[in-house]
Amino acid sequence: MKLLVCGGAGFIGSTFARQRLHEHDDEVTVLDKLTYAGREANFHDFAEDPRFRFIHGAIEDRAVVVAAIEACAPDAVINFAAETHVDRSIANPDAFVSTHALGTYVLLEATRERGTPFLQVSTDEVYGSIESGRFTEESPLAPSSPYSATKAGADLLVQSYFHTYGMHAVICRGSNNYGPYQYPEKLIPLMILNALHGDVLPIYGDGMQVRNWIHSTDFAAAIGCVLERGRPGEVYNAGGPDEEANVTVVRRIIELTGAAETQIEHVADRPGHDVRYSLSSEKVRALGWEPRVGFEEGLEQTVIWYRENRWWWEPIRSGDYRAYYERHYGRSLAS
Ligand code: NAD
Ligand code: DAU
Repeated sequence: MKLLVCGGAGFIGSTFARQRLHEHDDEVTVLDKLTYAGREANFHDFAEDPRFRFIHGAIEDRAVVVAAIEACAPDAVINFAAETHVDRSIANPDAFVSTHALGTYVLLEATRERGTPFLQVSTDEVYGSIESGRFTEESPLAPSSPYSATKAGADLLVQSYFHTYGMHAVICRGSNNYGPYQYPEKLIPLMILNALHGDVLPIYGDGMQVRNWIHSTDFAAAIGCVLERGRPGEVYNAGGPDEEANVTVVRRIIELTGAAETQIEHVADRPGHDVRYSLSSEKVRALGWEPRVGFEEGLEQTVIWYRENRWWWEPIRSGDYRAYYERHYGRSLAS
């Protein structure tokens, strides 16, 4: 297949691009705005592959999107492009509204005109928080943050294009991803790097919030499965095999890095913090997908990857990220 992967310079999009190039015989064009989270460094092992091409641009820029589609003539468009950090959406939702609402709309219009199949990458956060049991694809949408509300808005727009125009559009909603190439504003890479540097490990509130962890290669494979076998108009959930409370995850990172328990600090809670996410993935499993990486093994490999790939994260920790960290946590990183 020829694929146009929007947002493919980020954590999961680049994992998906790598998987489609290395494990399938696809041609991949990435369209990405290169926000703080999008990095050409994420293409380091496939940038020279003749089946790969990168186009720099924003999904809300209609001229760029149309030119990218004309240049690539894709068999499918997969939309990973998003602002993805809940804390940043609470501080300033502007870019979240623009990328998720306007950007998704522009992509839908451009692909509808050509009859190109479209896959929207979405999140379990659109369902809100669940105390017991699991969200299914029929669960009502009840997003809590500007991040999840704008992602839910994008999902509804995608579904409206299926119902109104008969567009070949599907949605795949994932649970919390972790693995190599994740920007260190997110819980797991933040805690690994802070643990390795002797920095504080800032747990929001009591740390008893539960997340349903999925390795990024498993989520990428679920998206590939939905792309190949999903039915237009349908939603498919892809949740990881394990659920853990944040404090448990941080304690395990302390063990794996040799950091000290005394580095843990309970800090002010995130406003509107969702207590638990959990996804039922029966529908995508029926298409032949299953997660391969257990959390224990995946976390250990992830810690090793960050230990061995300083070249990847050192420029981040010494760049704008420091200012973000200081603003958000009210303290400095160790140099
Ligand atoms: P990320 O922040 O690492 O990457 C997002 C990418 O989108 C970056 O490369 C960025 O430059 C690009 N981008 C942002 N705005 C853009 C725009 N207007 N035009 C073009 N490109 C733009 O995010 P991620 O964790 O890889 O998430 C990818 C997708 O998966 C998102 O849609 C997210 O909602 C979804 N998702 C993420 C998780 C998770 O745990 N990380 C879980 C479920 C679903
Ligand atoms: O569930 C899927 C979602 O997972 C994706 O849609 C989002 O794009 C992705 O960012 C992620 O959202 P979370 O808010 O769950 O991830 P985050 O890594 O920000 O936080 C995970 C948990 O850890 C959450 O309960 C908040 C907590 N946390 C996070 C940070 C950054 C802390 O306790 N301390 C921290 O410093």
